[in-house]
Amino acid sequence: MAHQSAWPDDLRPERLLTCRVTASPISLPSQADRLPNERPSLLSMAPSDLHDLFTHNLEDIYYAENELLDALDELESQTENEDIASAFSEHREETQGHIDRLEEAFDILGKEPEREECEGIEGLIKEHEEFTDEGPEQDVLDVHNLIAAQKTEHYEIAAYGNLAMLADRLGEDEVGDLLHENLEEEEDALDELSSLAESFDYGQIAAD
Ligand SMILES: [Fe+2]
Ligand SMILES: [Fe+2]
Repeated sequence: MAHQSAWPDDLRPERLLTCRVTASPISLPSQADRLPNERPSLLSMAPSDLHDLFTHNLEDIYYAENELLDALDELESQTENEDIASAFSEHREETQGHIDRLEEAFDILGKEPEREECEGIEGLIKEHEEFTDEGPEQDVLDVHNLIAAQKTEHYEIAAYGNLAMLADRLGEDEVGDLLHENLEEEEDALDELSSLAESFDYGQIAAD
């Protein structure tokens, strides 16, 4: 007896599997085809996006440096260890220099110096305050301050490293030189703080 299919002829699976979707290749309009007020393609917007990214990060670190000016003042006044306190004082002076260089960079770029709230530095400052508010012993507080300062240096090094790289990519050589100078001073500051942390006499702090 002949097998009878449950499918109507034109809906049989083997027929459906032979269906093909045909589509014309997508063609993008050329510059000449585009109307005068039409938005440019994403590709042609890329360079200005990089400028926006650069400016955003510049305003972010400008905000951070201004916050660090006050924070380093506070760290110095809280710290009893003379070597650590003088490292904070020294770096506070350098921080003022970083702000001056950033303002010079804004000037070269033809922009007013603006501050974009830096959540990263705000977070590090808040984190530092939370433990300080618990009233640690003085030696513990000195080490805590040292660690907090090192964390901010890592943030600044990441920020300036990328800003200097972006300035180079954007052909902003003069601005790039200023950012490289800030970067080098941050790296030296981190080295100094790390040496102080390694040579600190932890024996005077109770281990329990
Ligand atoms: Fe700085
Ligand atoms: Fe710094």
